[in-house]
Amino acid sequence: MRKKFLSTIAFAGAAALTMAGCSSDGDTEAPDDAANGGDTGGDTTEMITVGFAQTGAESGWRSANTEAMQAAFSEENGFELVFNAADNDPAAQISAVRNFINQGVDAIVIAPVVEDGWDDVLQEAQDADIPVILEDRTVTASEDLYAAWVGLDFKAEGVKAGEWVVDELAGDGPVRTVVLEGTTGSAPANDRAEGFNEAIDGSSVEIIDSQTGDFTRDGGRSVMEGYISNYGVDGIDLVYAHNDDMGLGAIEAIEAAGAVPGEDIKIVTIDAVKDGMQALVDGKINFIVECNPMLGEKAAELVKAVLNGEEVQQVNYVEDQSFTQEQAAEVIDERTY
Ligand code: AHR
Repeated sequence: MRKKFLSTIAFAGAAALTMAGCSSDGDTEAPDDAANGGDTGGDTTEMITVGFAQTGAESGWRSANTEAMQAAFSEENGFELVFNAADNDPAAQISAVRNFINQGVDAIVIAPVVEDGWDDVLQEAQDADIPVILEDRTVTASEDLYAAWVGLDFKAEGVKAGEWVVDELAGDGPVRTVVLEGTTGSAPANDRAEGFNEAIDGSSVEIIDSQTGDFTRDGGRSVMEGYISNYGVDGIDLVYAHNDDMGLGAIEAIEAAGAVPGEDIKIVTIDAVKDGMQALVDGKINFIVECNPMLGEKAAELVKAVLNGEEVQQVNYVEDQSFTQEQAAEVIDERTY
């Protein structure tokens, strides 16, 4: 662990030498002994200790994101990763971040379960001189409390889903829609709802119910079972699921009720993980908006840049695509997650 990176350097000249010691690929080397007024020469590359507070393991997307983070924050890349998954519990996640601060890690990366409640612990990290990078989800706390964020435009994802529904399904009669929401209070649940609602505004798409399935397959199935028992298969035209896993759970519920997913009830989801894409190819899902989980490399690059004292862009969007059945069939074999 290299403690308190730039703040341990007593004078500006040493800081300049430290910067000069960075390799072109952004790898950070320790200041050499001469720069510290020390004795022997020789380069020693110090590991960067990063505490990563992951949301949990709620979905296929999350597994792919965790793998991408672990691959990027590897020993080979100069990192020692301290990993915590909070099982979608906001209080447990905040306490994991406090533990990272107490351990004196070099930097903290957080995929925040929910948007609110981060001000105090982010302030504590800042007071301890530990930079924080957010990945995936956003927070409502002041931007001054973290160095950068990398992730997806969740609202745009909701807009894309809503626009497809309006273009393909809206007409004279109402499109009776049930929503499977993500984790309550999370950025993707909030923003995907907002984007979708904006896109369907003024159309014949009508949301008849909206409940959380917590981004899990079990959650999606059990909420969908409730919808089917309340409205009947014939009373629902469309499921808008905030992620693939909940959509896959809804497919199970629809099939168990003797109906045909993708035909009797249309399904639109977000993520484009392999299982979701397979269901799209099979015609059980009708349209998927991608949410790219491969955020590890960019997060690792940001951590290194921030620890090197470089100016970084605070908001870093990664691009998403969307898939019809035909488009999914073209790419499914190369899909790695
Ligand atoms: O924050 C990204 C969302 O979280 C993904 O869409 C969902 O699958 C995950 O659990």
